[in-house]
Amino acid sequence: MCGIVGYIGFRNAYPVIINGLKRLEYRGYDSAGLAIINDNYHIYKYKGKVKDLEEKTKNLNLTGTIGIGHTRWATHGEPSDINAHPHISMNKKFIIIHNGIIENYARLKKRLEDRGYNFISQTDTEVLANLIEYIYLKGRVTPEIALRLALTKVCGAYGILVVCTDEKETLFAARKGSPLVIGVGEGEYFIASDATPIVEYTNRVIFLNDDEVAIVKKNEFSLKTIMNVPVTPVIQEIDIEIGDIEKGGFDHFMLKEIFEQPRAIEDTFRGRLSIKDKSITLGGLYNVMDKLINAKRIIIVGCGTSWHAGLVGEYLLEDLAKIPTEVEYASEFRYRNPIINEDDIVIAISQSGETADTIAAIRLAKEKGATVIGICNVVGSTVARETHAGVFTHAGPEIGVASTKAFTAQITILTLMALLLGYKRGFLPKEKYEYYINEMFEIPKKIEKILNQHEKIKELAQVFNNINNSLYLGRGYLFPVALEGALKLKEISYIHAEGYPAAEMKHGPIALIDESMPVVVLASNKDITYEKIISNIQEVKARKGMVISIITEGDEKISKISDYCIEIPEAPDILTALLSVVPLQLLSYYIAVNRGYNVDQPRNLAKSVTVE
Ligand code: M6R
Repeated sequence: MCGIVGYIGFRNAYPVIINGLKRLEYRGYDSAGLAIINDNYHIYKYKGKVKDLEEKTKNLNLTGTIGIGHTRWATHGEPSDINAHPHISMNKKFIIIHNGIIENYARLKKRLEDRGYNFISQTDTEVLANLIEYIYLKGRVTPEIALRLALTKVCGAYGILVVCTDEKETLFAARKGSPLVIGVGEGEYFIASDATPIVEYTNRVIFLNDDEVAIVKKNEFSLKTIMNVPVTPVIQEIDIEIGDIEKGGFDHFMLKEIFEQPRAIEDTFRGRLSIKDKSITLGGLYNVMDKLINAKRIIIVGCGTSWHAGLVGEYLLEDLAKIPTEVEYASEFRYRNPIINEDDIVIAISQSGETADTIAAIRLAKEKGATVIGICNVVGSTVARETHAGVFTHAGPEIGVASTKAFTAQITILTLMALLLGYKRGFLPKEKYEYYINEMFEIPKKIEKILNQHEKIKELAQVFNNINNSLYLGRGYLFPVALEGALKLKEISYIHAEGYPAAEMKHGPIALIDESMPVVVLASNKDITYEKIISNIQEVKARKGMVISIITEGDEKISKISDYCIEIPEAPDILTALLSVVPLQLLSYYIAVNRGYNVDQPRNLAKSVTVE
């Protein structure tokens, strides 16, 4: 949930750390801090954003070739200067930044207090700093040994960077559960929670594994487990351009990412969907294809937007491939002792590949013998590495906290999977399969057409200026889109929004409807329930509700009875989710901007939820 960045080499670390924190700020933004190390060490940390930290430190002439920085999403202790990282141990021997949660921190803290330690913050991180120091001073061991021993006593998750003030030329990095990437330059190393602060310097990276400790010096690097077993580092080349992680002229990352969707979807099906051969190839599933074809059951797990994509996946897989499919919140799945059979396929969906609940669900499914497939956007992430097989979405880095292009890229993969399995299992005739391939190929152009209506959607957003509640209704493939539209609205504009299957409205939510209640209705003229949706709209109108309909181009039946309409191009029902969600993303975006909110960094949220 927090972002951490470190540098060791020959440059001045200060700008590397500040720029790195700006890139990582989407991971948490309630406080920020840094330490620059030269002959001495200098720690600055404040409640607030990275720009506040920069403002307060930019004229201090901080120079040093080692630095660490942290941008926080509070877990233990409210956002404050004191709880901000870095933390330093009581006798000033260890400086530490941390992403994760030390679950047994209270017990460790008590033990340290009994041994004379005082704590100034409420954080679990300060406990870890003092634990390392206690072992170091009491055991008279090296900083590295003290760190490794301390980590054996810790339960929970961490990605940490540590500097010992007695050994200022070394930076220690360790990981369990929370991601860490090491960028390998010439005589310099960059360490961060993800690759975004690194790519402007190098594309050669090492992804740290759980229970590994990196000992990094200016010209030297070694890797071992916390039990002191040497590990040979594997250097990989990553394919992220600097432009991918900048706003590129857009006001916000979210808007840029919404507009990137035609490209993101094309990149996701490139090399997999051939319009010439009318075929679909999913190389990442090659090893598990027989199991997939013969699957008796698929369970999809994910959280938030990825869970919504999973719901679309359920409809697709049952509809096209006739494989019984269930979708579970990863957080529920992991604790409810689910029945999983060895011939079950579990599909884990995650943009970041680092969501703690999704990772726990993967581990549980593997333990129970299922075959686990990942759909993930980040190369080298835990989901990518811990699943038996998988397919990457090639959406490119998603920085806006509200997920947009990852959602449509995930649905793209699920659609390709369902089409391929439907065809291979004999449920989808060749002509239908080829027809859908052609139609899928057209989706990016159709999304462009929707994006061209952004001015109209911006205007429509004004309707929500004084609104506090809203309802999103959809059926079939558009029910998960209703959920996603409602989530987008609440997370960035703080307007209460609920998504419902349209027919469920009469079982309760209809009581909420009056003239101050906008109801966003998703209606596709290809859906078998089209006429029923019309009745649902009438029911809203009869109660003076305001209806905003997302309709198929030229649908006069619905446009006549709606207050406002946004048209989307015609497409087969299995592909309508990919189109209908786009106006909802834009609508939420403009509503939040009208209200003056920071859409890329909504309150209380963080991009990557690496804690439970
Ligand atoms: O990285 P993941 O896809 O695993 O993240 C899952 C959710 O945390 C994420 O989709 C979240 O709900 C977004 N803020 C939604 O916009």
